[in-house]
Amino acid sequence: MRTQVGRTQVGIVGAGPAGLLLAQMLNREGIDSVVLEARSRSHIESRIRAGLLEQGSVDTLAEAGLDARLRREGLPHDGLALRFAGASHRIDLQALTGRRVTIYGQQEVVKDMVAARLATGRPLHFGAEEVALHDIATDRPRLTWKQEGVPQELHCDVIAGCDGFHGPSREAMPPEILRIYERTYPFAWLGILAEAPPVSPELLYARHEEGFALATMRSQHLSRLYLQCAPEENLALWPEERIWQALGTRLGAVNRGRIVQKGLTAMRSYVAEPMRHGRLFLAGDAAHIVPPTGAKGMNLAIADVRVLAAALTSFFRQGDQGLMDRYSAICLQRIWKVQRFSWWMTALLHRFSEEDAFEPRVQLAELDYLVHSEAARTALAEQYVGLPYDI
Ligand code: FAD
Ligand code: DHB
Repeated sequence: MRTQVGRTQVGIVGAGPAGLLLAQMLNREGIDSVVLEARSRSHIESRIRAGLLEQGSVDTLAEAGLDARLRREGLPHDGLALRFAGASHRIDLQALTGRRVTIYGQQEVVKDMVAARLATGRPLHFGAEEVALHDIATDRPRLTWKQEGVPQELHCDVIAGCDGFHGPSREAMPPEILRIYERTYPFAWLGILAEAPPVSPELLYARHEEGFALATMRSQHLSRLYLQCAPEENLALWPEERIWQALGTRLGAVNRGRIVQKGLTAMRSYVAEPMRHGRLFLAGDAAHIVPPTGAKGMNLAIADVRVLAAALTSFFRQGDQGLMDRYSAICLQRIWKVQRFSWWMTALLHRFSEEDAFEPRVQLAELDYLVHSEAARTALAEQYVGLPYDI
């Protein structure tokens, strides 16, 4: 079959929050792109993942013209609660930082971004098979893939690898230039979505002898609840009654309702450095993963894209490569701070081992210190609402 050949300025692999936001920000600067997505539109619009946006992420989505529904339907939160030793303690994010966070499901962010992309008329190809990157170290990198069996080739000036942790972009970098930093955790999260009003108006993070639990929400009628469980947990061992019992014990109380979704989230810290090779730039989960405690994954993807959009704009508009050259270093400064925060919140709230009696005492001491020290609460709050951007 004849290969169909095309050309664009930026070839974007992956239509997650990173790829779609980049496409939107470039479009607003008059820069052309093509987005390739392996899955279907309905698949990416129904994938339940993160749900909490930092204030800076909300502002970035607003700057990109993607906030109309978010403003109407997002739930702004001025605080959160930490629960341990049988009592809950509020952390007033607004009073400590002047900033807040917003609950709005990742699949809603993705729906808004897909609609905005389709409205521009620029290409977004779902069901792209066998996507491969070529000649990334040259000024004319290429993407090849198959669309309904027909081979395609796209000549680009730049490729943005926004294809998540399992995509082909990071794999296309020469292994000898990549340095990988990684940590896995001896547990996972069992997450459910239930038709029940949230048990508290703000998020509740619980440290309990049985393990961590988190009560969050998607609306006033839809609760999102997470439980620490074994890393390769068999969900068949968690019938509904056991889930509700465990949530009730760890969170103090819970509102029950019909469970409409159930899934397992692995816990991993991962950074691949550098995030650029030649004309290939990695953004979001393609370059780094954080454990979900503190909800930083999607926010970090948005922060990368801010820098990448600015770098590509100064390249295409002014012919200036300075920011492209600093892209990886600028992003990694933030990434490592957020890695540290996510690792710290995970370590503070989870049960690591049944044998170790020392660690729980240290956790309880730190939690007690936190709720009694404004300095410690401020440190948590300013990272939770999101560190300031460098760009
Ligand atoms: P992704 O959202 O992964 O998007 C990458 C896109 O690339 C996908 O659409 C994928 O289909 C596509 N792709 C992959 N391979 C190819 C290919 N070969 N060709 C073309 N396209 C391809 N974070 C939190 O903060 N809190 C949470 O509770 C939370 N829960 C999560 C649960 C799960 C199951 C997962 C996987 C992640 C979760 N995260 C959570 C992390 C958060 O969702 C991610 O950090 C965020 O999605 C990163 O956005 P991204 O655009 O970089 O990557
Ligand atoms: C959510 C997930 C998180 O990991 C978190 O720390 C806060 C909120 C959520 O899915 O709403």
